[in-house]
Amino acid sequence: MTDIGVILGATFVSIGALITLIGIFVCFRSEPHYYNPEDVDAMIFATISDRDFNKRHGIQIGVKNLHSNQNSEDSRMEDAIQPASTFNVSEGPLYSMASTERFLIVGGINSIHGWLWADLKSGQTKPKKSWSITLPTKTESIVKPEVNSLCTDGNGEVLYAGCGDSLIYAFDLSSGTLKQSYAGHKEYVHCLSVRDTQMASGSQDGDVLLWDVRENSWHNSLHPHEKEGVNRSNLGKWIGCIDLMDDWLVCGGGPALSLWHLRSLGLSTVYEELDSPVHQCLLEGEKVIAAGHSPRLIHFNLNGGIVLDIPSSSNCIYSIAHAKQPREVISIGGTSPRLDFCSCCKYRDYILFFCDSS
Ligand SMILES: *[C@@H]1O[C@H](CO)[C@@H](O)[C@H](O)[C@H]1NC(C)=O
Ligand SMILES: *[C@@H]1O[C@H](CO)[C@@H](O)[C@H](O)[C@H]1NC(C)=O
Repeated sequence: MTDIGVILGATFVSIGALITLIGIFVCFRSEPHYYNPEDVDAMIFATISDRDFNKRHGIQIGVKNLHSNQNSEDSRMEDAIQPASTFNVSEGPLYSMASTERFLIVGGINSIHGWLWADLKSGQTKPKKSWSITLPTKTESIVKPEVNSLCTDGNGEVLYAGCGDSLIYAFDLSSGTLKQSYAGHKEYVHCLSVRDTQMASGSQDGDVLLWDVRENSWHNSLHPHEKEGVNRSNLGKWIGCIDLMDDWLVCGGGPALSLWHLRSLGLSTVYEELDSPVHQCLLEGEKVIAAGHSPRLIHFNLNGGIVLDIPSSSNCIYSIAHAKQPREVISIGGTSPRLDFCSCCKYRDYILFFCDSS
């Protein structure tokens, strides 16, 4: 029996006008496994140090008709779905997930793997991996770095990977070749955001670095852990999530969730309501959507006011995925096998979990 422990990533791709394929990257576990819930770093160490656990990472793919729960009165709040496919990535634990129109992409230790959505859509139970990229790590290093964060440019042509060797790599997705590497962080890179030619990265070292993706050195930096009112020294200085849009940047982690103006590099808003470690944040239009080590997904406005406060099945949230097509829906995943969905993004309207695939 496959028992899902923790949902670390989820993503969507549509296969019809209203039917969406959901890729979920999970840790399977067959017995209770205690994570230090302090922060994601602790969890990453837990998965590395537990050898047995290494084998139990996998991906499950589910198909959900987003229309079916929309209008029917008798739709159930909780629904078990049969996974369309479940597969392990034999190389070891997984840390990050991204998706383009063509590929489902997953980051592991020293490597990145891609599957064609076309293969996954065809319902193959053991889909073949389409490609793998090995990080160009220095051969003398003993510890192989993990790929903590993946993101693609708007066209799905370039893949950016923030890694445990403190570097960020850019790969050409059509050839798999390294285009550029970016050095600047002093400790491992946790999170990345790329919009057009702007890139922002956050690290265990507490720094936020700002880059032009065409240049290999950063041009500006922010230090949330040094800013009074943002610093939370009891939670550490690590930056666990980051997002960029136009002139704004939002980030959080040990330091509080905070909004910064990029031209002036000035602090604009501190979101104090999330008083625990922050693991995920999205900047969307006039909203900041964020979650962390508490069972709630909060939508804030740019001034710090709470617009929505959505309860989640997970006590600690590691994944927020926002699909805009074919319908707007947000999924929330974390320390529960249940994935919460908010269609129209206003309230939690259903919960999915995978029933036993065997
Ligand atoms: C994945 O690996 C785990 C642990 O080795 C195993 O129990 C499970 O059956 C595997 N799942 C698949 C789909 O191969
Ligand atoms: C934030 O930094 C200031 C100045 O260094 C310090 O006095 C304060 O105690 C810090 N606050 C927290 C919550 O760590």
